[in-house]
Amino acid sequence: MTGAGGPAGVAVIRSLLRRSDVEVFAGDMDGWASGLYLVPAGRRRILSPGKSPSFVDELIAMCAADEIDVLFSTVDVELPPLARRRTELGAALAAPALDTLETCLDKFALAVRCAPLLRTPTTHLVGPASSAEQWDFPIIVKPRSGAGSRGVRMVHSRADLDALGDDDSLIAQELLPGDEYSVDVIANAQGQVIAAVPRTRTRVDSGVSIAGLTVRDAELEATATAVARAIGLVGVANVQLRRDVTGVPALLEVNPRFPGAMPLTIASGVDMPSLALDLALGLDLPDRVDFREIANVRFLEDVFVDPAEILHSENAAHTEED
Ligand SMILES: Nc1ncnc2c1ncn2[C@@H]1O[C@H](COP(=O)(O)OP(=O)(O)O)[C@@H](O)[C@H]1O
Ligand SMILES: [Mg+2]
Repeated sequence: MTGAGGPAGVAVIRSLLRRSDVEVFAGDMDGWASGLYLVPAGRRRILSPGKSPSFVDELIAMCAADEIDVLFSTVDVELPPLARRRTELGAALAAPALDTLETCLDKFALAVRCAPLLRTPTTHLVGPASSAEQWDFPIIVKPRSGAGSRGVRMVHSRADLDALGDDDSLIAQELLPGDEYSVDVIANAQGQVIAAVPRTRTRVDSGVSIAGLTVRDAELEATATAVARAIGLVGVANVQLRRDVTGVPALLEVNPRFPGAMPLTIASGVDMPSLALDLALGLDLPDRVDFREIANVRFLEDVFVDPAEILHSENAAHTEED
């Protein structure tokens, strides 16, 4: 498990630790990553940053040395390099196909892919295409590849839009004014969705949901299922939807990995990390896994270890902006 310091990493580690047939190794670029200290000392590993050219080679060597069977990553920048060399890893990669990852990590490509199949907000690259559209202002402008709401802004007039010039690293998008949901989805090896669990993000702190509840809503589940089909999902993804002016759920974006709020989805009845492990091992999944409505609040938890146990890493201070 890489990315052991993030909330998604911690959720995956905790889920897998509940299985008696699994030994979990936890890795992160930062020796202070909390999830490292959920596993025994001999199974903690310091990794290079996902952007480093040697990252995948180092992981291949580590998987061989530690006899790893399945590799999980919850870090966006690690996923495409790992998926590109999937067959060389020596371990099964519990992540969607490279084409799925690349489509999701480019919000414009994602909108183009999904538009014929489900309600997708009008979306153009900032430039001639966005200038030609008859927008109903305000609209949203955001980075084509971004995360954590960084760079998302509202644009109130054509003059403000045109002032952005020609910049295809940005997309202009119809504003969806309604309620927002995250739908955690898992699809089996044939691409059939076996669970789609919508949840609210009632309170969000630093991009991570810290309070919310799961909701049974056939339309949200059907929309997220259509997204999964459009992107050829095998495995787990987090589909973000928002209702349009008429109340119809429309696509915001897809994170092709485990989200930080995964503990809520697990508690509602769908243990996606455990199912994803079975999928990666080639085991059959159930046809359908049901969930119940449940609410979630979260707080920080303290873990105390001997200072000598804290792993040394050189990359620690740079994580936020990388
Ligand atoms: N078209 C849109 N209409 C309304 N709100 C939006 C729209 N696009 C983004 N937002 C708001 O900005 C947040 C972040 O945008 P998102 O597309 O999820 O990018 P990321 O989470 O990768 O930064 C969303 O959760 C939503 O609240
Ligand atoms: Mg988002």
